[in-house]
Amino acid sequence: MMKVAVAAGKGGVGKTTIACGIASVLAVQGEQVLLVDLDPQSNAAWGLGADPTLPGTAELLLGENPAPIQISDNLWVLPGGPGLKGHEVMRLDPEALADAIAPFEHTAIIFDCPPGWDHLERLGLVAAETALVVVDAHPFAIQGAARVIETLSVRCQKQRQGAQRWALVMSRVDLRRTLDKDLEAALIALFADVDRLLIRQDVALSLATTERTPIVSTAPQQCRGMTDLHNIIEWLRNGEASR
Ligand SMILES: Nc1ncnc2c1ncn2[C@@H]1O[C@H](COP(=O)(O)OP(=O)(O)OP(=O)(O)O)[C@@H](O)[C@H]1O
Ligand SMILES: [Mg+2]
Repeated sequence: MMKVAVAAGKGGVGKTTIACGIASVLAVQGEQVLLVDLDPQSNAAWGLGADPTLPGTAELLLGENPAPIQISDNLWVLPGGPGLKGHEVMRLDPEALADAIAPFEHTAIIFDCPPGWDHLERLGLVAAETALVVVDAHPFAIQGAARVIETLSVRCQKQRQGAQRWALVMSRVDLRRTLDKDLEAALIALFADVDRLLIRQDVALSLATTERTPIVSTAPQQCRGMTDLHNIIEWLRNGEASR
């Protein structure tokens, strides 16, 4: 089973867009995909077209049996929601989500982590085997990525449960912008041994979540967004960055 956390340490960098994108491409590739929305705002569920207010991740964490909502043939989502901000969820062990998803029989589970809720982000990082650390050219995003990678490395060194493998995803990249051109060099300087993946700025990616439909049903196969999503999935499957 493939278990992937999409995290950032900063808001608005493209986590949900990437999580929904890889979930829908994996579903078309024949995986049985569950997207676990860890955001109190439930953006991923909304962006895939589900009712974001239905029971979901919070209820699962609290020991209930919410039914994943089916989006398409091979794609399901557990919505986030304000319940994730509650005290009961806040008090859970970091392993709580890893334990709660154990009964699911999906072949791929994607965790969309929220910004600004470290304990929710940690639930996703600990339940995953692989983490995609999303970053853009803003200094705060690079600081956020450094914090997530530090959390991952420390857990790994202590042989704690959680993602064993991670890559940086440079998000919303537009090489006409000076800051974006310098991003890769900045990441190489700071995280020399971490693989780097790329998601370029692409209207098909932003349209998918605003039109509330999986990207595969609207975007042309050859658009930048689909090409970049396929490269990320290649890395997830084979562990190699195609740069
Ligand atoms: N590659 C891209 N190309 C064009 N627009 C993008 C891309 N990635 C994200 N966006 C747009 O940027 C905005 C933020 O994206 P998104 O919601 O995925 O970020 P996020 O990191 O999940 O945010 P939050 O921290 O609030 O959860 C959205 O309007 C989205 O449509
Ligand atoms: Mg989001």
